Amino acid sequence: MSIYKTDLAEPKKSSSSDTALKYAELAASALQNSVEHLNHSYAQKLCGAEGAVEFKDGGVYTYDNHGKRYLDCLGGYGIFNVGHRHPRVIAAVKEQLDQVCLHSQDLLNPWAAHLAKQLATIAPGDLKYVFFCNSGTEAVEGAIKLARLYTGKTEIVSTKNSYHGVSMGALSATGREVFRKPFAPLLNGFVHVPFGDAKAIEKAITKNTAAVILEPIQGEGGINIPSRNYLKKVRKITEKKGVLLILDEVQTGMGRTGKMFACEHEAVVPDILCLAKALGGGVMPIGCFMSTPEIWKVLEPNPTIHNSTFGGNPLACSAASACIEVLLDEKLPERAKRMGKYFLSELHALVSKYPDLLADVRGKGLLIGLEFQSEEIRRNVQTDLFHKGVLVAATMNANRTIRIEPPLTISELQINLVVDRLESVLQHLADTLPEPKDFALAKRKRRVS
Ligand SMILES: Cc1ncc(COP(=O)(O)O)c(C=O)c1O
Repeated sequence: MSIYKTDLAEPKKSSSSDTALKYAELAASALQNSVEHLNHSYAQKLCGAEGAVEFKDGGVYTYDNHGKRYLDCLGGYGIFNVGHRHPRVIAAVKEQLDQVCLHSQDLLNPWAAHLAKQLATIAPGDLKYVFFCNSGTEAVEGAIKLARLYTGKTEIVSTKNSYHGVSMGALSATGREVFRKPFAPLLNGFVHVPFGDAKAIEKAITKNTAAVILEPIQGEGGINIPSRNYLKKVRKITEKKGVLLILDEVQTGMGRTGKMFACEHEAVVPDILCLAKALGGGVMPIGCFMSTPEIWKVLEPNPTIHNSTFGGNPLACSAASACIEVLLDEKLPERAKRMGKYFLSELHALVSKYPDLLADVRGKGLLIGLEFQSEEIRRNVQTDLFHKGVLVAATMNANRTIRIEPPLTISELQINLVVDRLESVLQHLADTLPEPKDFALAKRKRRVS
């Protein structure tokens, strides 16, 4: 049963009061069911959205049940690189639905094999073998297991403020206590050093270290971009010390930063590469980890030693194959570089104009972080932008920072629209701010109380 019946297919502000009533009922039941059966905290989450319910999506837009359009700069946390419901991805999945949806597991799976070949072709260096799973967490989990299996060692060096997922292994790599502490004890042998400090990585490596795991740019950490050559230095250190380098490109991969993979900015080839999120073309969930023929040998004696029932399923693979074709044919990594540069320059102008509100803007390609002077300001801006039809959200580990991760298909005109709306939100906030002196005083008072 579809939630939306045909007679509710096109919500319009001008539609009959009967239809409007049905939409109001739908929104009310979505809220009630979310609170009663998903998580009670949805009551809080949805009040800012005034009960807006997701209705449909397409291109760079999401639409709610009132027919309101939102320019999507949140991108489902970075999954819509080719846009929402790209026609080629949708067509590939529809066609696949009429052939095989989930695989038998016994016969050869041609869709997984084809996608693996495509990935091997676009991946840097000698990353020729692929294991398919269903999420970023699983990709990282598998990468950690492969590193342990290959090296026979157990320790992993990770970074503070990193985000690698929520299963026990991936969580052990994640570098933020708020996620880790409630589930301790986690896996032994994980250490976390400051991100961006190659020497700290070198120091943390012991004779028991299997691998170093890194995001080339920390996404959930607040869009943290390390200084130039950081990755290169880490690559050299890991080679010198004989440990593996796992790059988690779950968020930075598939063209997001202006190259197909962020490691290509520094011509670094990892030993293991993790992908997910945008790999499924914004239509199907899929993740994977890739590695070299040499490392993959340890999986050959028993290929099912690490496995997944749904991993590599034909529906997800057909979506991912179409996604790669679109990224290449429409030159979306190059577009991300161009549009990102323009977006960043416009946002830098706002940082100069509103320094009491905006602390910083940073980014690479269309992975952009906008850091506010306080969490409260960030929350206000996010809510006001929502009302003005722009979706953004905070990063998980840095709540003063908004991520801007629109589809890579976004146009200059649409960027202008986002910047204009952001500027009007900032101007409104600036107009209501106390004078600079009073503002500092008010801030101090708030801290005391
Ligand atoms: C870098 C990185 N790794 C792993 C993950 C986990 O991915 P998933 O939520 O698909 O499990 C995320 C999610 O945000 C991520 O940003």
